[in-house]
Amino acid sequence: MIKIIKAKDYNEMSRKAANIISAQVIMKPDCVLGLATGSSPLGIYAQLIDWYKKGDLDFSQTKSVNLDEYRGLSHDNPQSYYYFMNENFFKHININPANTHVPNGMELNAQKACADHEAIIQELGGIDLQLLGLGNNGHIGFNEPGVAFEKETHCVHLTESTIRANSRFFEKLEDVPTQAYTMGIKSIMMAKKILIIVSGEGKSDIVKEAFFGPVIPQVPASILQMHPDVTLVADADALSKCTTLI
Ligand code: F6R
Repeated sequence: MIKIIKAKDYNEMSRKAANIISAQVIMKPDCVLGLATGSSPLGIYAQLIDWYKKGDLDFSQTKSVNLDEYRGLSHDNPQSYYYFMNENFFKHININPANTHVPNGMELNAQKACADHEAIIQELGGIDLQLLGLGNNGHIGFNEPGVAFEKETHCVHLTESTIRANSRFFEKLEDVPTQAYTMGIKSIMMAKKILIIVSGEGKSDIVKEAFFGPVIPQVPASILQMHPDVTLVADADALSKCTTLI
């Protein structure tokens, strides 16, 4: 059963979700956080940075693994997820950079890059809390519709719709990488707790499909209905098509 927390807007969604992450770090300072990039978590990271600066949070023992990374982008490429995480979160808090793990986009041997990432998750003892955003087509991580549920970290070809959605961060469409390394559905489902955040009217249809529709590979996020500890924090616009269901 998915726990749904309603927020009135993006800011409230971010604050409520940040509270959940903050509680995790306070309860278990050496926890393993699974982190995401994209627009959705930016407000959470800003809030956590704020609480850290006020002295309310300490990340010195915390470890992190990230969901995904574009294949072929170097760490200093502003579009890489490595760069994103440093700019928007890591460099502003006291997490030890050695304890942060984004899949290695610079490792072009896909099999090795993915096996290495999966090995890191195992060595850390698994993910305590995995943060997820929801793609317009129901993807989580870069697990696009139709992908087998049992996959671990693997290399994917991005769909046309994801390339188009992500092109907003690039100068032109052709600059968007066509492949990425991503934790698979299986790796995500192994996390002890999952926190998924969704904001905006544009995602209202997919929220309904993912959390109230059938569990099918065509809607990758629908598998979360089978996880024992999932919290969805969503704003009123994102939940606008589910008002009769919750
Ligand atoms: C990001 C990720 C993606 C995004 C999703 C939503 O690491 O894995 O699945 O969470 O595409 O993106 P935004 O938040 O930009 O709408």
